[in-house]
Amino acid sequence: MSTEFQCPMCGEHRPVDPFSQFCPGCRSPMLIVYDDVQRAFHKESSGMLERYRDFLPLDAIHASLGLGEGHTPLQRLDRLMCISDGPEVFAKNEIFNPTASFKDRGTVVAVHAAEARRIRRIGTVSTGNMGISTAAYGARAGIKTFVMIKTDSSREKLFSAGIHGAELIQVGGDYGRLFELSLELGGKHGIYFMNSTDALRVEGYKLEGFEIFEQMGDDAPDWIFVPVSSGGHLIGLMKAFKELRTQGMIDRLPRFVGVQARGCRPVARAFQAGAERFTRIEKVETVAQSITNPSPPAGDIVLKWIRENDGEILDVTDSDILEAQRNLAELEGIFCLPASAVTLAGMRRLAQKQAFRPGDRVVLVITGSGAKNVNILDRNKMRIVQSDLVDLGDVIRERL
Ligand SMILES: Cc1ncc(COP(=O)(O)O)c(C=O)c1O
Ligand SMILES: [Zn+2]
Repeated sequence: MSTEFQCPMCGEHRPVDPFSQFCPGCRSPMLIVYDDVQRAFHKESSGMLERYRDFLPLDAIHASLGLGEGHTPLQRLDRLMCISDGPEVFAKNEIFNPTASFKDRGTVVAVHAAEARRIRRIGTVSTGNMGISTAAYGARAGIKTFVMIKTDSSREKLFSAGIHGAELIQVGGDYGRLFELSLELGGKHGIYFMNSTDALRVEGYKLEGFEIFEQMGDDAPDWIFVPVSSGGHLIGLMKAFKELRTQGMIDRLPRFVGVQARGCRPVARAFQAGAERFTRIEKVETVAQSITNPSPPAGDIVLKWIRENDGEILDVTDSDILEAQRNLAELEGIFCLPASAVTLAGMRRLAQKQAFRPGDRVVLVITGSGAKNVNILDRNKMRIVQSDLVDLGDVIRERL
């Protein structure tokens, strides 16, 4: 099966090249396109890459490069479904990935592409989760790995990346510029920077969409809510359903809702203003640190695809995000990052506008584990009681 890069904005084609992923004409990230051949899922295979190999640009799949990514549960949120006659709500719980975020799906595909091309240095630029994922898969593959992490990343994120022995560099300054600089330096030193909108990475995110389709009984849900930072993840999920439609496996796409935090909402702002292009955000301020890209490389693709497919892009406040994070933990046992809780906050916004019909099936993508950023949690909002051994019996009796 042959594959090539295509620019989703202007249609330009080029050969696949991990070191040169941007359209020469319009500077958009390019995506991978496939020959128009019949493809199928290999349902007998339990490995994520094996199962969906017809939809991947890989000639060979190596178990030795994987860590057990994918096959995450789709959990019905019974206790949260308190809106009467509301939609049926599910969480696609990506916390179950090896490094506790969806990033692992993309990293494993990009590392396969590196291995196939005998690239011996990889790297990434990250708010945290992608750094952790790339460090772990780089370690597993025995490839030298460079991780550039933002200075405001939590200690948990920093240490979880550092433990894998990568070259870990905390970089201050503008994140958008760091993204560009990494690609320049990568080209110079032969380091394949598999950043957030990397076309191979996006192919890995696509597989999450196939799982949702299968878990919905070989059908598309009505709605999918996804946090948006660089936009790579949302593009991957949309690409899954577009390819299923091309294959004749579905006849309509779900309605996608991209959700940003109010304190970093370049794409939501452009969407609401009816603009075709986003403009960068100057000052970022939100508890959802994982989704703070002020200049998202795939922002214009997100705007285009969401408009073409009747989707929405919303932004939600920090207090709504923290409330949603607490509700998911208290009512459903899911402790996610604020960056993931934006999906529930976004769904509640749309519910107020009565966007859902009874019986609609809604999927919230829970992108990463809350254990990676505990310092934003408020000790005063936890029920923590102090006791010594003598009083413990009374303390428990009072709470029965
Ligand atoms: C937990 C979490 N959710 C969502 C996102 C957003 O993904 P993307 O940058 O592909 O839009 C990220 C990105 O770092 C993340 O770490
Ligand atoms: Zn282009």
